[in-house]
Amino acid sequence: MRIGILGSGLMGAKLGTIFARAGHEVTFSYARTRQKLERLAGEAAGHAKAGTPREAAQGADAVLLAVHWSRIDDVLRQAGDLSGRVVLTCSLPMNEGNTDLVVAHTSSGAEELARKIPQARVVAAFNTVPSEVLFGVYEAKRRAGRPSLVYCGDDAGAKDVAAGLIRDAGFEPVDAGPLRIARYTEPFALLVAQLAYEGSGGPELAYRFERFGK
Ligand SMILES: NC(=O)c1ccc[n+]([C@@H]2O[C@H](COP(=O)([O-])OP(=O)(O)OC[C@H]3O[C@@H](n4cnc5c(N)ncnc54)[C@H](OP(=O)(O)O)[C@@H]3O)[C@@H](O)[C@H]2O)c1
Repeated sequence: MRIGILGSGLMGAKLGTIFARAGHEVTFSYARTRQKLERLAGEAAGHAKAGTPREAAQGADAVLLAVHWSRIDDVLRQAGDLSGRVVLTCSLPMNEGNTDLVVAHTSSGAEELARKIPQARVVAAFNTVPSEVLFGVYEAKRRAGRPSLVYCGDDAGAKDVAAGLIRDAGFEPVDAGPLRIARYTEPFALLVAQLAYEGSGGPELAYRFERFGK
């Protein structure tokens, strides 16, 4: 699968590297320097290259949106037409200081994003785990007891693509329902971040849902 990374920072760089290692063709884009994108592509040890947001998005089977909330409009403008495109977003609608959600309760970042690109097939995924745990989860993927990863969206086909990539990254996908459920998953992401960054165990934290009684 061809995957375009829009935002090659903590999340985009690691997920792009993981997708390339899992056998996908990855284009890293949207960093402040081209050298960083070239370096990431070189280090990914798979089919990876550096490109512009437009090159990353056009022709991609899936696009990962991984920028700060304040950069969303800029990266979308640079990416061009995303009609029909599967857009996975890990972006949380955080304020400049990353202390609070600026959209919550009655909407979510994922829904606001979908309103900006109504012809795209938006799925909220990978937003509920810290970047620090991603390589560890990927490296442990052959072990039993994979961590969960919630995702939500309104397009069944796009959700299938998301579930596949979530599995490729070493998580067990948990379908949380339609995109409006991002109103719950986004605050949940802040809980995970609280435990990861303010707890005593360090940021390499994932979570796992288990069902009992059957
Ligand atoms: N970090 C986490 O653990 C985590 C977990 C869950 C969700 N999230 C969400 O995921 C999204 C991405 O987070 P992140 O931590 O990966 O962010 P980040 O490390 O700040 O990465 C953002 C990317 O955007 C690029 N960028 C910023 N300003 C730019 C500009 N003016 N022109 C071009 N590129 C620019 C950065 O370039 P450089 O590479 O040059 O800095 C970087 O590649 C955010 O919405 C965040 O809330 C993050």
